Amino acid sequence: MPFYRGRRLRRSPALRTLVRETALHRENLIMPYFVVDTPDVDFRSPISAMPGQNQLSLQELEKQIGRAAEHGLHGCLLFGIPAAKDEMGSEGYAEHGIIQRACRMIKENWPDLLVITDVCLCEYTSHGHCGVIENNDVANDPTLELLSRMALSHVRAGADIVAPSDMMDGRVGAIREALDAHGFTQTPILSYSIKYASSFYGPFREAAESAPKFGDRKTYQMDPPNWREAIREADADVAEGADMLMVKPAGPYLDVLLRIRETFALPLCAYQVSGEYSMLMAAIENGWLNKDAAILESLLGIRRAGADFILSYFTEYLLENKLVR
Ligand code: PBG
Repeated sequence: MPFYRGRRLRRSPALRTLVRETALHRENLIMPYFVVDTPDVDFRSPISAMPGQNQLSLQELEKQIGRAAEHGLHGCLLFGIPAAKDEMGSEGYAEHGIIQRACRMIKENWPDLLVITDVCLCEYTSHGHCGVIENNDVANDPTLELLSRMALSHVRAGADIVAPSDMMDGRVGAIREALDAHGFTQTPILSYSIKYASSFYGPFREAAESAPKFGDRKTYQMDPPNWREAIREADADVAEGADMLMVKPAGPYLDVLLRIRETFALPLCAYQVSGEYSMLMAAIENGWLNKDAAILESLLGIRRAGADFILSYFTEYLLENKLVR
């Protein structure tokens, strides 16, 4: 009985690429940016927990996206750091808020670049929670109205896709209704459907200045040991009208990604979050991992598990170094 000679198809690069099952293209990658509302037009502040990433003024964001667009950037995800925070996160849905200005700026310069906005209050509230506080708790239903206003203001400013990340129940339905009521029936919602209460968001909270001032996010974000709960969350979002689903974080939740891929027909996104980026960068900067190979392997794993596209802080690097095309 001849045994299986798996090595036959690995003998040369040409054979390996012939039978390769998963690819990563530039269209599969979205770059997140942190834009700060500041009068200092040259503002560019390195995020210490995320080597290579910066908080940017609107003008610096314009330069940064200009460079990335030349290298083939397909889309971006925007986070805003407002000039002032309050209890209700009102800068988040202000007509001339930082994200609203950023959307207009990008669409004026690069009309074809996909602009996705993160819809969540935590960067805008003085307490750092993703919803309004009532009786020392994050109040679900009163938050929906604010999230809807925020999504609507982003779309009016030119956002192509809105991505609610707050994890309030019913927000996809509320946002859909608000968009439709104002004639934006064609704007898709990318729901952060399956978002775990993860320690891997740690570096992001420095980047977005959004750490909660009291308590944590465990009453609204998902409990990491659960996967059936992920199916329930996705079911609810599909019923409410989500156009695309997301699993976040990505790397530590590939099993969840695969199950969602197999259970739902909607396009699926995965977020390789700040902690995943920082972990890889720390090992890379120590010389413990080969940079390009490790980055590509981490992203191909996410694609193999079922993600159609990935939000990743490595996007610009991969484009600039022609590691994806
Ligand atoms: C806002 C939001 C967070 C992330 C994306 N949107 C932080 C959080 O929920 O605390 C995390 C992204 C990352 O870690 O890269 N709610």
